[in-house]
Amino acid sequence: MNKERKLLIAGNWKMNKTVAEALDLVQGLRRELAGVKEVDILVCPPFTALSEVSRAILDSNIRLGAQNMSENNAGAFTGEVSAAMLREFSVRYVILGHSERRQFQKESDALIAKKALAAHAASLKPIVCVGETLAERESGQAEKIIGAQLKGSLAGLTKAQMEETILAYEPVWAIGTGKTATTQQVQDIHAFIRRTLVSLFDEATARRVRVQYGGSVKPANARELMSQPDVDGALVGGAALEVRSFSDIVKNSI
Ligand code: 13P
Repeated sequence: MNKERKLLIAGNWKMNKTVAEALDLVQGLRRELAGVKEVDILVCPPFTALSEVSRAILDSNIRLGAQNMSENNAGAFTGEVSAAMLREFSVRYVILGHSERRQFQKESDALIAKKALAAHAASLKPIVCVGETLAERESGQAEKIIGAQLKGSLAGLTKAQMEETILAYEPVWAIGTGKTATTQQVQDIHAFIRRTLVSLFDEATARRVRVQYGGSVKPANARELMSQPDVDGALVGGAALEVRSFSDIVKNSI
């Protein structure tokens, strides 16, 4: 697939995989995906598996991401993990503002913006997630909601930082439900996201930012989704938990 931006296919393992299970998965992926250079491949295990997975993917084409981090650098923040701590395990990316954290941990756009700035300060690339609920889509508010999430979550980023930021469009109603947005719905929102980046930053910056799609991505729908002009990768949940399905998504995206 000849794309303007290199695809980033990422697995968000969420709260799944013990260390032993994580190693099984990543060793299988390493075998299946050896030699793949056409797309960037990323795995985002839970914090507890980062150390071992980091060692297991040394000298491979698989990169490491985390699923969250603190907006603070250090101090009395019980239960939190800082950007510098992630860097110790060669983490390069961090998912921020996933809809599950927006929903269950009540993360706000302002908090996500602080985290994005802290990630950049530590040379981590944030993957900032946005997306509407079913009620918001059905009431015709998807673009309004996503526009506000972008404006709030990207507040304060320089153009240079924006270029090193990845966005993920994840319609909440398509996550873990088996319902994928139609290819047209996805492309339309991705084009809207890019127009919004033009107005928040500029044309050149907007052209360089990778915008992933997430929500029931499977081997069977990956090729069509990834072929859309403004879709620059996938953030995969359930199908990232098995060697076969995740490696097929990667291969079908090439
Ligand atoms: P599913 O692929 O399980 O729908 O999850 C998508 C997601 O939330 C990835 O971050």
